[in-house]
Amino acid sequence: MDVVILENAEAVARVAADHIEQVLGASAHPVLGLATGSSPLGLYGELARRHRDFGLSFAGADVFMLDEYVGLGADHEQSYHHFIHENLVSQVDLDPARVHLPDGLATDLAAECASFDASIRDAGGVDCQLLGIGSNGHIAFNEPGSSLASRTRPVWLTPSTIRDNARFFSSRSEVPVRALSQGLGTIMEARRVLLIATGAKKADAVAQMVEGPVSARCPASVLQLHPHTVAVVDEDAAAKLELSDFYRYSRRMQLQDGAPAWS
Ligand code: GLP
Repeated sequence: MDVVILENAEAVARVAADHIEQVLGASAHPVLGLATGSSPLGLYGELARRHRDFGLSFAGADVFMLDEYVGLGADHEQSYHHFIHENLVSQVDLDPARVHLPDGLATDLAAECASFDASIRDAGGVDCQLLGIGSNGHIAFNEPGSSLASRTRPVWLTPSTIRDNARFFSSRSEVPVRALSQGLGTIMEARRVLLIATGAKKADAVAQMVEGPVSARCPASVLQLHPHTVAVVDEDAAAKLELSDFYRYSRRMQLQDGAPAWS
């Protein structure tokens, strides 16, 4: 895993946008895997700015989102459908018909998940999967204990995730306790993975992901087995990494060589 440590969240957004821009430029029909949460907001703002100011285009791209809450329809303000339309789709030239999420209101949740996985395969697989990380090490909604080979499926959320998500809802009782989530096995099939994390609250999870054992205890640690993963983190999120000096050194060397965002 490449670890890029940057001074702050703005720098994380810029460097992550460089990675996405490179993926968009590499194919007429790029397939992006995108994420929700507060972590990618700066990145989406930066991509929208590049679209406005420099014509960065998403035309021809397909987007597959990581997850959706069970019980929230696309028009619910806190649904992930709504999130991605609000924060990215409406700001750029993405075709809304090419933005795919599992339906949290489906009557047969397992069938919905299986057909979502099939639609990723039909699109040729994901070129670049963007991820945030939960403070307990989850990616998408793969909570600790998730099978490292899991596929897209209905999952239950842990009390700590429900607590973390409660800030987006007016009362705790409204926070969904179930979701449809891409599995760790599904995510691992993406050709590239770009994980972003900012803030001290993520420092333990980032250290476990990068330097801990590969274990379902920290679902994000499965990314150690992925051949093309870049973790772009700010100083606060990197604070508990033991080998941070080496990551900084490697990054300096890479820049000196003039390597592109994805080398
Ligand atoms: C939710 C999402 C994850 C996201 C995580 C972290 O659990 N399912 O995909 O990475 O939140 O969110 P934030 O970036 O707001 O800390």
